[in-house]
Parts: sequence; C-alpha cells; structure tokens
Amino acid sequence: PGRPRALSGIQPTAGSFHLGNYLGAVRQYVALQETHDAFYMVVDLHAITMPQDPAGLRANTRLAAAQLLAAGLDPDRCTLFIQSHVPEHAQLAWVMNCITGFGEASRMTQFKDKSAKQGADRATVGLFTYPILQVADILLYQADAVPVGEDQRQHIELTRDLAERFNGRFGQTFNLPAAHIVREVAKIHDLQDPTAKMSKSAASPKGLVNLLDEPGVSAKKFRSAVTDTDTVVRFDEKDKPGVSNLLTIHSALTGTGIPELEEQYAGKGYGALKTDVAEIFVAWVTPFRERTQEYLGDPETLDAVMAKGAEKARAVAAETLAAAYDRIGF
Ligand code: ADP
Ligand code: NA
Repeated sequence: PGRPRALSGIQPTAGSFHLGNYLGAVRQYVALQETHDAFYMVVDLHAITMPQDPAGLRANTRLAAAQLLAAGLDPDRCTLFIQSHVPEHAQLAWVMNCITGFGEASRMTQFKDKSAKQGADRATVGLFTYPILQVADILLYQADAVPVGEDQRQHIELTRDLAERFNGRFGQTFNLPAAHIVREVAKIHDLQDPTAKMSKSAASPKGLVNLLDEPGVSAKKFRSAVTDTDTVVRFDEKDKPGVSNLLTIHSALTGTGIPELEEQYAGKGYGALKTDVAEIFVAWVTPFRERTQEYLGDPETLDAVMAKGAEKARAVAAETLAAAYDRIGF
C-alpha cells in the first residue's frame, strides 16, 4: 500500500525484442517495479485484432514472457501475466463498449491508422474496439500510471472519459489514471538510417538490432553503423544522428553521461566508438540471451510463473469487475 499502481501491456507479436524496445520501454518497466505496484501483461487478446497464426501466437506469447523475465521483471516485485488468463478483461471490455459512443470510438486515430494499413474492408470490429479493451485493461487494476508512448495518449484520455462516465452514472467505481509518458528515455535510431527510429519494420535488417540474434551478427551491425564524414565524436542529433545514436546506446548501457563520453572519445575516431558500443552490447546481451533461453527451455517453470502472475492479477481484477457488475444491476 502507498505505492502508486502502474499497468502496461506488451504485444506478443514481435519474435525478438529489439534494442529500441528494451531501452525505450522494457527497461522502464523494470525500473517501475521499485517505485510502483506494477502490473505487466502480455496482451494476447489485443494481438488477435490482426490475423494471427495460433502456433505463432502461442510461441510469441511465451517468447515475450521469457524476454521480460530475462530483462529483469521479477515476479516477486511485480505482477506479470498473460492477458487471456484473466477473463475479467473481456468481461469489463463489454461493459465499457456499452457506454462508449460509436462516434467517440470512431475518432481514435490509432484505429484509423491501423485499419488504413489493413485495408478498410479487412479491418475487424475487434480492431475497432481494441481501445475500449485497453480501457478495461487499465480500469480493472485501478491503475494510477500507465507507461505508454505518445501515440497512446488518446487512449488514456478515453480511459479517463469512460471512467468518469461510469462513475457519474453508476457511482464511484474506477480510479482515473494518468498517462506516464516516458518521453525523456532513450529513443534508439536505425543503425543504417539514423534519422529513423529503430523498428521491427526497418527498411534494412542491418539497421535493426534484435536482442535474440547471434551477438556476433549484432556486433557487426554496430561496427558498420552509418555515421558521417566528420571525425569528431560529439552529440548532435541534427548534424550527427549516427554518432549521437551510438552515444545514446553507449550511455544507456553503461550509465556514463554523454558529456563524459565526448571527453573519453576526444581525439579518437568513430571506429573506436563503434567497436566499444559493439563490445558493450555483446557483454550486456549475452546473459540476457542465456536467461531467455533458460526460460524457453523450461516451459513448465515459465508456465508456472505466468499462472501465478495470473492468479495475483485476478485477485485484483475480479474485485473491480464484481463492483462494476453490482453497480450496473447484474
Ligand atoms: P516497433 O516500432 O518496432 O513496431 P513497438 O511498436 O512494438 O515497436 O514498440 C514496443 C515498445 O517499444 C513501445 O513502448 C515503443 O515506444 C518502444 N519502442 C519501439 N521502438 C523504439 C525505439 N526505436 N526507441 C525507443 N523505444 C522504442
Ligand atoms: Na510501432
């Protein structure tokens, strides 16, 4: 008690987390365990809003859970679970669907973007209504803080609107959460196109550092990172995006401040920086990969950890759902 509650969902779709996912998101989840009563879930219900192959979904869900544990989420210090193991998410989502205006849901820009990508006639009702499932995800845990990227801000506002609406109509039931935008954290760029964000949908696989790739492969990517024709190691995102990206990664993985790094590399070329970042990354990722493989190689333990997480989550979720059902007249 006393600690604010945090809730975040992680998509199981990506096979391997990339360095941007880790430094931009997962590392913050690990840190939040210390300051918050943190709930993290692998959002397999959200994953099926897009076409999914069952074996692939199952494997990716396990993979996401294994990587989160390997990255340092500690089931004794946070609640880590798989969304579909807690049926209250779908149950509360239905209730929230029934107090959401059709027009209101239609204004969600993420749906517009995603359905445009899918082709309007192929987009499902599930995709349309997924922000409302997200509302239920957050409200079930009475979350105070929702660590999300800027693109999710509209969904947090919808969450607050629907919570207020429900509370106003049926009596105080839900806590109003706030977006915990992790803006200051490292934004990692593509190693080949350093003005673009590192993304699993990268134009060139050489620019993308997947954590579960063979470390030698990633080291080579760092050593052949695109920089510029100057030679001075200086942080300047506009004129030296490649060098700045390498400095950001170095700083994030070692904890050394950027000004200190600039001093350290004064008079040395870009080659030294690239080689060092490659080595630092390999030293960090090697135990991460080993821990991930340990969880994947022992599915019984992994499943038991996730079952225990679901049990902890359900204790909270069931209480909130029961209160909501009671207020509605169920
Ligand atoms: P991708 O852009 O590769 O599709 P996701 O959208 O699945 O990645 O992102 C998952 C999480 O990782 C989000 O919280 C997102 O903000 C974070 N993230 C993704 N790419 C980066 C990046 N290049 N730098 C920092 N954070 C990132
Ligand atoms: Na993305």
